Amino acid sequence: MDIKAVEASYARWAPVYDKTFGAVTRAGRRRTAEYINNHGGSVLEVGVGTGLALPHYASNVQVTGIDFSEEMLAKARLRIEERELTNIKELRQMDARSLDFADNSFDMVAAMHVLSVVPEPKRVMSEIERVLKPGGRVVISNHFKSTQGVLASIEKFTAPFADVLGWHSDFAIETVLQEERLKLELQQSLPPFGMMTFLVLRKLHTN
Ligand SMILES: C[S@@+](CC[C@H](N)C(=O)[O-])C[C@H]1O[C@@H](n2cnc3c(N)ncnc32)[C@H](O)[C@@H]1O
Repeated sequence: MDIKAVEASYARWAPVYDKTFGAVTRAGRRRTAEYINNHGGSVLEVGVGTGLALPHYASNVQVTGIDFSEEMLAKARLRIEERELTNIKELRQMDARSLDFADNSFDMVAAMHVLSVVPEPKRVMSEIERVLKPGGRVVISNHFKSTQGVLASIEKFTAPFADVLGWHSDFAIETVLQEERLKLELQQSLPPFGMMTFLVLRKLHTN
């Protein structure tokens, strides 16, 4: 899926996202926010979408959100206004493949249901690593490719329709585990039916 397909797909998803895709992925956002709230500090949410996670962050967390889709961001801005969320520092339109932030800027980076959507996910992981402070953590929630069973067959069947669906159904977990300085600390299965995976990676201090 290229960036034009992402743009077109999420312009279509934006009006219905919260009650469809957004509803199925609720557990991942809650778990991610819960983990981040236990640590506090500055957080970059990559692919913030309609901002469904934003009300779940505690007041000790300062959030910066980015997304490529103006339509999704418009929904997120409305949510901030309606809920009067004062800990959301800023939302910016940006491509996650070239983040407009200095190296070592954030205590944490959250990436929820976005890594199987972006073009060039390895490049996005490298950008995430760059903007994360040494010792900081990347918190990920995503569906990853199943290796067996009915789900694996469905994923294989739907994989060619990524442009229409708006995500890659057969996205391998190894894709997000390749950054040398990002060490896997935690991996858990999440609802529905263990289809989602929660990951925490820590940025090593060494160069
Ligand atoms: C499935 S939605 C997830 C939204 C939100 N994180 C959630 O959990 O509800 C994926 C989001 O990733 C965004 N996205 C895709 N490619 C992107 C890119 N290259 N840079 C920034 N955002 C991107 C889409 O616009 C969309 O809002």
